[in-house]
Amino acid sequence: MSESQEESTDVGAKPEVPSNTGETDTGETDTGSQPVARREFLSFGAMCCGLAAGYGTLVAMGGRFLYVSDSDDKSMALQYVTNCDSLTVGETIDYVTPLGAKIVVARQRNQMQEFKKQEEALEQELVETLEKQTELDQEQKKKLEEELRQALDLKLLNMRNKIDPAKDYIALSSVCPHLGCQVHWQSHKKEFYCPCHQGRFNADGVGIAGPPLDAGQSLAQYNLESPDKRMLFIEVPVVGLTAPEDA
Ligand code: FES
Repeated sequence: MSESQEESTDVGAKPEVPSNTGETDTGETDTGSQPVARREFLSFGAMCCGLAAGYGTLVAMGGRFLYVSDSDDKSMALQYVTNCDSLTVGETIDYVTPLGAKIVVARQRNQMQEFKKQEEALEQELVETLEKQTELDQEQKKKLEEELRQALDLKLLNMRNKIDPAKDYIALSSVCPHLGCQVHWQSHKKEFYCPCHQGRFNADGVGIAGPPLDAGQSLAQYNLESPDKRMLFIEVPVVGLTAPEDA
């Protein structure tokens, strides 16, 4: 989405229907630089953790989505927003909740790309460490390399499992708390801008200029989750959708 599109319209995009994109679970590119067994180890480990976390949480999430009550702890539900890799850093998507609240969801980072850079740096570090072992014979060097690679594999697996794609994003109300105008994300400044009175908010939605700054106002923030690390969900109020007999 271009910035000009962001600033010119109130898109109010509806949640998209999840689709099978045929992408890998991790979204990584196979560079062919790692031994096959090592890649299989990393892929299998990540797949098992992903499946366990994904299915378990999706069951719980499905329950939350379907069961809506008027009690305080059940007044919110998770709603699908988009696939986690559908936006690049700096892009936004407009979302309207079932109750009509307007929200802008902005991608602010890409943890998987950051991970790949770290992985490359650690691989390089390992190679350089081995090159320095000039006093070792071939057999000793081979043994040392196996040990170092095992340790590196475990470290990378832990790092990758800690990646939460939902944390790449922020979801903020796109309604200015000053007088209710529509705010727009400006990726080149990493700010939200309100054209009505030149209000500005930083990437976390905190007022940094104009009336919102004077009044100490911020954009309301919404919780985002990605149980399966592929689809992005937003937690929004749904109390008004409760069936009359349950209200
Ligand atoms: S309505 Fe946004 S600054 Fe006034």
